[in-house]
Amino acid sequence: MGDVMEFSLLGSSPQFAHVLAQIRRIAKFDVAVLIGGETGTGKELGARAVHYLSARANRPFIPVNCGALAESLVESELFGHERGAFTDARQSAPGLISEADGGTLFLDEVDTLSLKAQAALLRFLQDGTYRRVGGTQTRHTNVRLIAASNANLEQLVETRHFRRDLLYRLMVMPLVMPPLRERGNDVAELAQAFLDRLNLNYRGQTAVKHFHPDFLASLRCYNWPGNVRELEHFIQREYLLCDGEVLKASMPSDRQTEAGPEVCYETGFKQGKAKTIAEFEKNFVRTMLDRTQGNITHAARMAGQDRSAFSKLVHKYRLANQVEQEQDLSGS
Ligand SMILES: Nc1ncnc2c1ncn2[C@@H]1O[C@H](COP(=O)(O)OP(=O)(O)OP(=O)(O)O)[C@@H](O)[C@H]1O
Ligand SMILES: [Mg+2]
Repeated sequence: MGDVMEFSLLGSSPQFAHVLAQIRRIAKFDVAVLIGGETGTGKELGARAVHYLSARANRPFIPVNCGALAESLVESELFGHERGAFTDARQSAPGLISEADGGTLFLDEVDTLSLKAQAALLRFLQDGTYRRVGGTQTRHTNVRLIAASNANLEQLVETRHFRRDLLYRLMVMPLVMPPLRERGNDVAELAQAFLDRLNLNYRGQTAVKHFHPDFLASLRCYNWPGNVRELEHFIQREYLLCDGEVLKASMPSDRQTEAGPEVCYETGFKQGKAKTIAEFEKNFVRTMLDRTQGNITHAARMAGQDRSAFSKLVHKYRLANQVEQEQDLSGS
């Protein structure tokens, strides 16, 4: 067991200090944990900290992004399958739950699990037993479950997309990672830490850079919808684009007011309106993809849109090249 700081969870605002204290406390109790918080707030880092501060630290930490797995594969990935369980199952496979034995299984985007997979997971949480897909033998394994989601699970329970009993099971130990905009001066502290790391990584290749005095203060003017991840990428971009030694305040607040669409008055009302809407849609989709590093599930969620509707817009405006490589757009 080490210190939380070893897991690079930086920040010393009172809001974040409270989270770190909770992490240390939660780590001691061997129960399921549910980590909430907006995209990029550090849910996965938090899960790792819980694991490495727990008595399971010397056993595996297995992360699974449920949202990235095809629905038909989730159960066999998690619980394993027997030979012949489905067309491609030429051999049996033990599954990730078995791989995590003695350690921690981290289920990211748990809200994307099908109701069937949720039922199997609930059973596993209740008595530690499960069955491989296509198998009849009841198996047992000793795994701590940490789940994360940036969706409103209560709301998904209301709309019957998420099982209430599973939510209650997971909510025994809730942990919420606060958004960066509510973490006071952490934004400056993190920016400085990211810059220090870049200076170290590029030592000898470029001049050592520092922030212009206005730079750190200006970071507070922006609301960071992509949170720490967005800040990290922003500092990296500014660093790589900066020729000199001083990173000038490029006022992220300016980024908040994305240039509005140029209205065309020459084509008549109907066409002008259609063109303006199209430009707005394209800009909006592009910005959401930009803020989520091309993660279409997160981008759709940030936009408050259904994934498939969002995906259609991505195709309509030919923005697929901005989407993460491994994501399958055709399926939605
Ligand atoms: N407190 C922190 N200190 C340092 N780095 C952090 C902190 N929180 C997050 N990060 C960094 O920000 C990035 C995003 O963190 P992480 O993947 O844990 O977020 P997340 O909440 O799981 O995001 P998502 O919902 O998009 O999956 C990572 O590169 C991580 O290292
Ligand atoms: Mg994550």
